[in-house]
Amino acid sequence: MNSVVFAKNAINPSAPVGVFDSGVGGLSVLKEIRQRLPSEQLFYIADEAYVPYGEKSPDFIIQRSLAITQFLIEQGIKALVIACNTATAAAAGEIRTHWPWLPVVAMEPAVKPATQATRSGIVGVLATTGTLKSAKFAALLDRFAGNVRVITQPCPGLVEEIEQGNLATAEVKQLLAHYALPLVEQGCDTLILGCTHYPFLKNALSELVGDQIQIIDTGEAVARRLEFVLTQQQLLNQQSVNFKHDRFYSSGDLTRFAQVLPILWGEVEAIFNFTSTEELS
Ligand code: DGL
Repeated sequence: MNSVVFAKNAINPSAPVGVFDSGVGGLSVLKEIRQRLPSEQLFYIADEAYVPYGEKSPDFIIQRSLAITQFLIEQGIKALVIACNTATAAAAGEIRTHWPWLPVVAMEPAVKPATQATRSGIVGVLATTGTLKSAKFAALLDRFAGNVRVITQPCPGLVEEIEQGNLATAEVKQLLAHYALPLVEQGCDTLILGCTHYPFLKNALSELVGDQIQIIDTGEAVARRLEFVLTQQQLLNQQSVNFKHDRFYSSGDLTRFAQVLPILWGEVEAIFNFTSTEELS
C-alpha cells in the first residue's frame, strides 16, 4: 500500500468534471453531460485494461474505482461522475467515504421511471451480473418495484462488442436477440438499459423489439443531477470552455481507443495513457 493523502482540492468552478467507466460505455453519459453542460471541461477515464467490470469481484472494482478517483483528484477535478452502474453498485459508498468533500454523481438502473411507465406491469432490466447481484440493486427494487414484476437479465458479451465499436454486427444482433426477446415474450413492455454501454445499442435493440417497447436509460437524468449538484454548490463554470481541453484517458490499448472514440464520441484532440495500479487501503 502506497502512502496516499486523501487531499481536498481547492474546488473552483473552472476546474474540470471527472467521469469514469470500465471502458467506453460511460461516453453515453458523457454525451448527455456535454449537451446539457457545454461550459464544463470534461476528463474521461476508460479503465479498459480491466474491462469488463461486470463479472469481477466487488473488492476488485472498489480498488480500481478508488485508484481512478485518486488520479482524477490529482488532475484537479471539482466533481466526479461514476458513469458505470457496476462501479456505482460496488464502490460509490467507498468513494464518498474516502473523499467526503467531493461532489459525486452516480448511476443506477432506471427502475423508478420504468415502473411508472409500464402498462403491462412487467419490466425487463438488461445489466451486468455485478449490478444485478448487488445489494444496491436489491434495495432499488424493494423501494420502487411495488406491484410491477421486474425481470432481470445479465448480458455477458455485449460490453466486449461495444468496446470494439461493434454496434450492429450480426454477432451483436444475435446476442441482443438472445437476451432481450425472452423478456418481451414474457410480457415486458419496458426495457431498462442498466449498463452505460448499452445505450450505444439502442437502435439495434429497438429494431429488434419494435417501437411498442419503451427503452429507458439513465444518462440524461445523470446529466441533470450533475447540473443540479454543481448549481447548488456554486460550481457551475461561468467561462466559455474550449472542448479541445477535454481529456480522454484509457488504461488499455490506446490504438484501439483511438479507433473506437470517433465511432462513439467524435474527434478528440489527444488521448492519454492512464496507468495507475496503485492500491489504496
Ligand atoms: N458500463 C458499465 C456499467 O454501466 C460496466 C460494464 C462492464 O464493464 O461490465 O455497468
